[in-house]
Amino acid sequence: EAELSLRPKRLNQYIGQEKIKQKVAIYIEAAKNRLESLDHVLLYGPPGLGKTTLATIIANELEVGIKTTTGPAIERPGDLVALLNELQPGDVLFIDEIHRMPKSIEEMLYSAMEDFYIDIIVGQDATAHPVRFPLPPFTLIGATTKAGMLSAPLRARFGIVEHMNYYTTKELAQIITRSAEVFSTSINEQGALEIARRSRGTPRVANRLLKRVRDFAQVANKPEIDLEIVKYALEMLHVDDQGLDETDRKVLLTMIELYNGGPVGLNTLAANIGEETETIADMIEPYLLQIGFIKRTARGRMVTLSAYEHLHISYEKN
Ligand code: ADE
Repeated sequence: EAELSLRPKRLNQYIGQEKIKQKVAIYIEAAKNRLESLDHVLLYGPPGLGKTTLATIIANELEVGIKTTTGPAIERPGDLVALLNELQPGDVLFIDEIHRMPKSIEEMLYSAMEDFYIDIIVGQDATAHPVRFPLPPFTLIGATTKAGMLSAPLRARFGIVEHMNYYTTKELAQIITRSAEVFSTSINEQGALEIARRSRGTPRVANRLLKRVRDFAQVANKPEIDLEIVKYALEMLHVDDQGLDETDRKVLLTMIELYNGGPVGLNTLAANIGEETETIADMIEPYLLQIGFIKRTARGRMVTLSAYEHLHISYEKN
């Protein structure tokens, strides 16, 4: 499947996040030399930056297996036991959205992470007692967004904690060029850079835009994706020159039209727009903050002057 091969398999194929790659390469080599499992890894950052890809690469570089799940999918102790049961010594257990795990499961993970055992309550009422199950040594890789707060005890059990950052335009252009090769599509440098500039610093967005642009190029009988077809396609997709889409603009316009630019709270905003608070907190706000279109104040979020200018709305104080 094309989708799968879009994801690099090895650390040296992974573009960007240079500091993280350097450190992780050392930790992997050291753990392998000691014949130990890698310490538990927590990856923080906005969605679409390659946390899952990196977790898979870590398992590949360690030459171990990987089991993948998400926080909300682990509902009962039995779900966690089933996952842990399948692990071979040294394997990676990847839990995406780890901040959405039920509290009871989180507490079971503490001993699993620290000392590789879990206690399971067997029997009921007067006969209820814990039975201890030993586990093979394993590496937990957790992924969460910046907004997804982890409890202090869980966070403390990760020996390696890394923040993923938005990618530069140059890095995204490299990813786009690589992905075009995977699709057997030709793209020139200007075309790749233009998609990159409008991808909100996010490889997942870059790859999605590339796919759509490729459709437009194909139907227009363009042998190569160039600046012209990129501009045309992205105009059709309502992705503006800063990479903002309809939802981003709706957030800014709601803040401006209903709240005179703010301050406004995230929940209020979400209710007005008809999006989940979490979607705004994880996917929309971080990028608008990054490009300086909104700012956080003690009383809520505010639209900045640059956002008014970008939207061609005149700024009037009341
Ligand atoms: N595809 C998605 N993220 C990537 C990355 N960081 N490097 C290479 N290809 C990618």
